[in-house]
Amino acid sequence: MNIQENIDHLLEHLQADLCEVVDSQTLEALRLRVLGRKGEITTLMRVLGQVPPEERPAIGQLINDAREKAAGWLDTLAMRIAVHERTEALARETIDVTQPMWERRLGNLHPINLALDEILDVFTGMGFEAVEGPEVELDLYNFELLNLPKNHPSRDAQDTFYIEENIVLRTHTSPVQARTMLERKPPIRIVCPGRVYRADEFDATHSPVFHQLEGLMIDEDVTMGDLKGTLDAFAKRLYDPDIATRFRPSFFPFTEPSAEVDLTCVSCRGQGCRVCKGTGWIEVLGAGMVNPKVLELCGIDSQKYSGFAFGMGLDRIALLRYGVQDLRLMFEGDMRFLRQFR
Ligand code: PHE
Repeated sequence: MNIQENIDHLLEHLQADLCEVVDSQTLEALRLRVLGRKGEITTLMRVLGQVPPEERPAIGQLINDAREKAAGWLDTLAMRIAVHERTEALARETIDVTQPMWERRLGNLHPINLALDEILDVFTGMGFEAVEGPEVELDLYNFELLNLPKNHPSRDAQDTFYIEENIVLRTHTSPVQARTMLERKPPIRIVCPGRVYRADEFDATHSPVFHQLEGLMIDEDVTMGDLKGTLDAFAKRLYDPDIATRFRPSFFPFTEPSAEVDLTCVSCRGQGCRVCKGTGWIEVLGAGMVNPKVLELCGIDSQKYSGFAFGMGLDRIALLRYGVQDLRLMFEGDMRFLRQFR
């Protein structure tokens, strides 16, 4: 076969193959076969060496023409395929912006945590530090060190869940205060939030598990005036400046003197309503000056130092804040209820 025939055959073959090409990948393979470094036309060029010198220009010209022809066909088809592939890709990647999508549900804080966050904000703003402690607690911290020796009548007031004779589910967060007094030296300024347990009914106003936040401040010359000022400032910051506080004498073994603290009813602003049973006041806190006996039991010199303590029920504050009527809603985990606090 002479070179001319070779070229004709090669081009014919290429034309036939080009008709079969459907995508850019097969086209590129074809380009390599014909024009690549070891391709058919390149191979022809090499034969040129064996051709007598006087025939070389003419034959070289033939091969060059063939190369140009082949390259032209390949380029034209490449362009057509590129356009086609792009159109297909665009059709495939179309986004239907009207398609309905999943509602993404973000979680939210539990109303008790919401109330706690607000309360902590107020106390940390006044220089109190939040401290936590165990819910399964030794009798020692929950009772003894707080001036509630065994067989003390006030133990009955806190219907305790016993795990063992000397291990209880804490009935208040006061044991965290005892632990802190034993660990640190005054000045102490802490608040202790947490879950507490009492063998109570489960009804609209009681639950065997509930939440407290207690506070403790110990330093030289801490007075009842500091206690009143702190709680009054707290009430005014948590609600607003026309909320007043009222102290009524009370009794706790760990404080002396002790008080129950009422706030102006946040629902009726003192007018008297169903929430405050017509009195204009709501009871939210127990408080008092830390009993010197407790200070001594916890290793603090009661001649040099004095302190105040207070405790509040977080659940009741959350109920009042969000106008929820039934305490059970706070614990039942019903998503329809909880989602309303977003
Ligand atoms: N620990 C008390 C209770 O749970 C509340 C309280 C705390 C009262 C601190 C006075 C001082 O009932």
